[in-house]
Amino acid sequence: MAVSLNTEYLKDFIDESEYSAIDSQVRLVQALLRSGAGEGHDYVGWVDLPDNYDREEVDRIKKAAEKIRSDSDVLVVIGIGGSYLGARGVIELLGSQYFNDFSDLKVYFAGNTLSGDALKKIIRLCEGKRISLNVISKSGTTTESSIAFRIFRAMLEKQYGKQEAASRIYATTDKARGTLKKLADKEGYETFVIPDDVGGRYSVLTPVGLLPIAAAGFDIDALLAGAQNGKKRFSGEEIGTSDALKYAAIRNILSRKGKSIELTVSFEPAFTMMNEWLKQLYGESEGKQHKGLFPASCIFSTDLHSMGQYIQDGARQLFETFIRFGEAGEDVEVPYEIDDSDELNFIAGKNLSYVNDKALKATEQAHVSGGVPCIEINVDRIDEENLGELIYFFELTCGISGYLLGVNPFNQPGVEAYKKNMFKLLGKPGYTD
Ligand code: PA5
Repeated sequence: MAVSLNTEYLKDFIDESEYSAIDSQVRLVQALLRSGAGEGHDYVGWVDLPDNYDREEVDRIKKAAEKIRSDSDVLVVIGIGGSYLGARGVIELLGSQYFNDFSDLKVYFAGNTLSGDALKKIIRLCEGKRISLNVISKSGTTTESSIAFRIFRAMLEKQYGKQEAASRIYATTDKARGTLKKLADKEGYETFVIPDDVGGRYSVLTPVGLLPIAAAGFDIDALLAGAQNGKKRFSGEEIGTSDALKYAAIRNILSRKGKSIELTVSFEPAFTMMNEWLKQLYGESEGKQHKGLFPASCIFSTDLHSMGQYIQDGARQLFETFIRFGEAGEDVEVPYEIDDSDELNFIAGKNLSYVNDKALKATEQAHVSGGVPCIEINVDRIDEENLGELIYFFELTCGISGYLLGVNPFNQPGVEAYKKNMFKLLGKPGYTD
């Protein structure tokens, strides 16, 4: 079992009868989701994606990734939101936050902010390097990514000439519509398709995530195989037979009890960007009609020295979801010291993973005793297969959670408001009145 739920720390907060009470609703919404009869049903393509993905396109992705690795020092991945966070989350979890320091191919993420300073820093990192670009946008019109793409496109055309630049630009976008698709066809860029029925934040297992992840050197077949395992393992129709459904039920029960914040916690710093991916997944899916858990995150034990006081003792409006890894890559042993001048010999000879896991258990016990419900999601190890299963687990939980809450988990009408104001302030034609 790669991904599994441990609910032992919820005993004081959720009674068994509460699971029984919500089970019929859970059965109903999982049937709605899986039959494609619920709200937003045009965007549930991710549910069957691990079985149905386009094999021929995945082969093309692997070939493109090989070419990028052989002819480039730098891959600039341009995209924002769902067209950005998943790829970065996976690369950093599998390769650590220091991925670029260890890798021959550097992967930089641009177009996810409007900061000129941030963009200029990436441009400077690329100077004198052999560059490839992967521009990712489903709509093809997103301001942040369009600006960055215009700038990098010009840079590549200056460096290589139009024809060679075109062979170094990969566009991941809609199969037929949008400005980016038109431009890619006109300029002859290799294109990869974001399926119509998969929205941005559910798209990490499409070419959106797969090309950058493969270019970074990770095994996308294993990632997809993991997602396929997840689809099988969480296919139960009731709380008792699917950990994903049970987790969705728990989130709903706790939110009805006044817990309005879910704090997702990992003791691995490499999980930082996966936390950001999760925040978008849940925040954009559930935060509607003045409802939804507020998704927050921490990396422990780091943040225990900043947020720990509040979590232990502050306002009781949150619950925690711990992502606990059985094995997490490399390890370091605490050395024995004859003088024991720093009084650490009681853990001499132990690996840090052992100490880290004891810190996790100690934190769960402390927070539960402080009145914070704690959920534990166990993941056997950090690798592609486990991560694919974890991604599917979270996507499924998110769809079910949204339906349980009574919102459409697949749209995002609220994100337009700032854009309209920004276009007006910038004088974009059509927005000035
Ligand atoms: O989840 C979503 O739909 C959004 O976060 C989008 O992915 C994001 O706004 C980027 O959109 P696009 O891919 O059209 O550039």
